Amino acid sequence: GLALLGGLISLFLLEIFRLNSIRSSCPPGPKPLPFVGNLPDFFRDRMAFVKLMPKYGEMCSIHLGKKQTIVLNSMQILKEAFVQNGAIFSGRPSVPLLHWIHRGKGIVMASYGHSWRQQRRFALHTLRDFGLGKKTVEERVAEEAHYLIKEMLKQEGKPFYPIHLFMNAVSNIICSIIFGDRFDYDNKSFATLLEILNKNVLLSGSAVGQIFNLVPFIKYFPGPHQRIRENASALREFILEIVEEHKKTLDPDNPRDFIDAYLIEMTKQESKEDSTFHVENMIKSTSDLFSAGTETTANTLRWGLIYMMNHPDVQERCHEEIVRVLGFDRPPCMDDRARLPYTCATVYEIQRYANIIPLGLVHITTEPTQLRGYHLPAGTDVWPNLTAVMTDKEHWKYPDTFNPENFLDEKGQFCKNDYFLPFSLGPRVCLGETLARTELFIFFTSLLQRIKYSWPPGAPPYNTEGIVGVIRSPLPFNTICLSRETTP
Ligand code: HEM
Repeated sequence: GLALLGGLISLFLLEIFRLNSIRSSCPPGPKPLPFVGNLPDFFRDRMAFVKLMPKYGEMCSIHLGKKQTIVLNSMQILKEAFVQNGAIFSGRPSVPLLHWIHRGKGIVMASYGHSWRQQRRFALHTLRDFGLGKKTVEERVAEEAHYLIKEMLKQEGKPFYPIHLFMNAVSNIICSIIFGDRFDYDNKSFATLLEILNKNVLLSGSAVGQIFNLVPFIKYFPGPHQRIRENASALREFILEIVEEHKKTLDPDNPRDFIDAYLIEMTKQESKEDSTFHVENMIKSTSDLFSAGTETTANTLRWGLIYMMNHPDVQERCHEEIVRVLGFDRPPCMDDRARLPYTCATVYEIQRYANIIPLGLVHITTEPTQLRGYHLPAGTDVWPNLTAVMTDKEHWKYPDTFNPENFLDEKGQFCKNDYFLPFSLGPRVCLGETLARTELFIFFTSLLQRIKYSWPPGAPPYNTEGIVGVIRSPLPFNTICLSRETTP
């Protein structure tokens, strides 16, 4: 008994000694507890934690478990690291949970190097070829918005939660690019898939994911982490089935979508030794585009609806501007932005304020380096604090409140702000930025053109903190839609 107690005390003292020696050589930050570091604070209230970081300076360190992690809290230092030293700061950690559930490398969590570069470049080109740059994606979004509005108005006057409709509508855009087709809102198996996707985003970002990454051997035991794996398999099966269909009808001279283009590329690169175009990477890249391209935009749309219900004056002003410029019926296009400055500013402000990826995605250093005089070994985790940049008091008129004036000049014209950073920056910058901007502007403008949104009468005040994991999602809510043509 005594020996055990003695052992524990020495372990504890060693840990204190380890922490003290690490802390003396790393950037300042909140005091870590022995063994768990800052994890308790990180999980207790993620947003409070993220907002506290800039108090320690432009660069601070936190301890998630035993691991020392760097957080970058200003635009200046983020440019220094992610842009000027892009090759050093664009790695991704090897995350045990992701290794366990995926086989291919794909894009989002692929380590910096040949495979990531090939897959990312190919995806970017294909996204462009199948719509971006041409008018077709805009038209597709406008058409989808038309279906969405029709579907929403089926619930006219009744409180309902539009989560499924938003996810289905947004997903249809990326689906038409990668699979060549959209899915009807009453398609049950697609609805199940979207639900699965949503659950996995939440589960992986929750304590379940973190615990798995700390003690991966729990994979041999039952528990909620098994569901994450089953869900990932369901997505894989769904994609594989579509790939099989595509193989049967493929015309190598006329690729219809991303899958066709990928199959053609696989054949083209077959003889190359360093080709990374194989079935596992096809599934992973496709599932990356599908996942990254769905919940992000759909989630932002939900926040947007909440802000519109909370700020009926903003909603009214947008609607008036849209109807003045487009009337009730003409679908919006991206060129209309110039004539819709208030609406444009509102869409930007929704994205700034929704701040759906508060700490960005984690990067790692690919080699030993120095930043602001601190030595960072290869493999150091680095988080870009997007929240700090998008609420920087020096650069925003209204950093902590929802206010479209953040993007308007004195003349009421739209004005860009370089501290708007929802898509991050550098070689890892969001690959879907152009697509997401198109989706957000056209969906929002269409939704505000045709429908008025309000809280159900007597609804209790809504908690706008949301649930925060890697992604910040709104809590469930109900809205009441009224068709604008019948509402004065
Ligand atoms: C990566 C934000 C929509 C595809 C990212 C990152 C952020 C982000 C912050 C991490 C960048 C970094 O590592 O520093 C958003 C937001 C969106 C959105 C706020 C919508 C409102 C989309 C869409 C697509 C997409 C529609 C679909 C094509 C990706 C991919 C990556 C990524 C593939 C990984 C890039 C890489 O690691 O090289 N996104 N995104 N995103 N996003 Fe988006």
